[in-house]
Amino acid sequence: MGKKQKEIEGEKLFELHYQDIYGDRWPTLRLALLEERKPVAFCEHLEATYYLDEASIVAARLLGVQKGDHVLDMCAAPGGKSLVLASSLQGSGKLVANDRSATRRGRLKIVLKNHLHEAWQESVQVTGHDASKWGLYEQGLYDRVLLDAPCSSERHVLNDGKALKLWRPSRPKVLAIQQFAMLAAALEAVKIGGVILYSTCSIEPIENEGVIEKLFAKRAGRFALEDTSGPDAEQRSYGSIILPDRANGRGPLYFCLIRRVS
Ligand SMILES: C[S@@+](CC[C@H](N)C(=O)[O-])C[C@H]1O[C@@H](n2cnc3c(N)ncnc32)[C@H](O)[C@@H]1O
Repeated sequence: MGKKQKEIEGEKLFELHYQDIYGDRWPTLRLALLEERKPVAFCEHLEATYYLDEASIVAARLLGVQKGDHVLDMCAAPGGKSLVLASSLQGSGKLVANDRSATRRGRLKIVLKNHLHEAWQESVQVTGHDASKWGLYEQGLYDRVLLDAPCSSERHVLNDGKALKLWRPSRPKVLAIQQFAMLAAALEAVKIGGVILYSTCSIEPIENEGVIEKLFAKRAGRFALEDTSGPDAEQRSYGSIILPDRANGRGPLYFCLIRRVS
């Protein structure tokens, strides 16, 4: 098959794949994903305003961070959700903001430096571990863990011709394997009684409720799900999703709140 033909195939495969999942809803959802994002200003307790998708604020707040908590943000760069977590801590407790990518970690450090009060910087630590191997570094230490996992990011793919042409149905499956490994590591990192928020910006069920389903299959009895209902949040078999066609352009953002019980 020639290069050109392969490129066209990516676009077609993408369309067929999501049409199959979303059926009659797909054309409307597709249009909403193509629309420009509408970031909102977030400045609560911050030194400077940061602009991000409102769905990201909703999800990060669901983690319920309290002053004094020890919080781990496993995939933190560029740092929008870390800022929401830090604004709840207000310089108390500890926030470990981790990202494996050195380039993105550089951006994360700048975002934290420019938006957090100087006095709070000491309680924030930036690390560069592989989230899926967290158990090698620490276990049962955190009150709250955010796992905002790398994902298919269909909104980005649809708006980037090159990425769209290269898209293959195998991609979500490969990502789901990595996402599960990270979630299993998050379950070890959080204290018994502590909470994990698993989130993605994907519209692919395999990467969302599919990962939670696998956690039920592989780690049964070790966790329980908490309520994630709220305005704009559509319930899934596990967790909730905010989709831009029904949430005034917000999202996509899938989230599931998981409490470790043993
Ligand atoms: C969805 S983005 C995170 C966005 C971020 N939470 C925010 O709100 O700005 C996913 C991040 O995961 C990082 N990442 C990918 N694989 C990783 C791994 N194995 N361990 C840690 N971070 C990883 C990527 O570099 C990327 O920055």
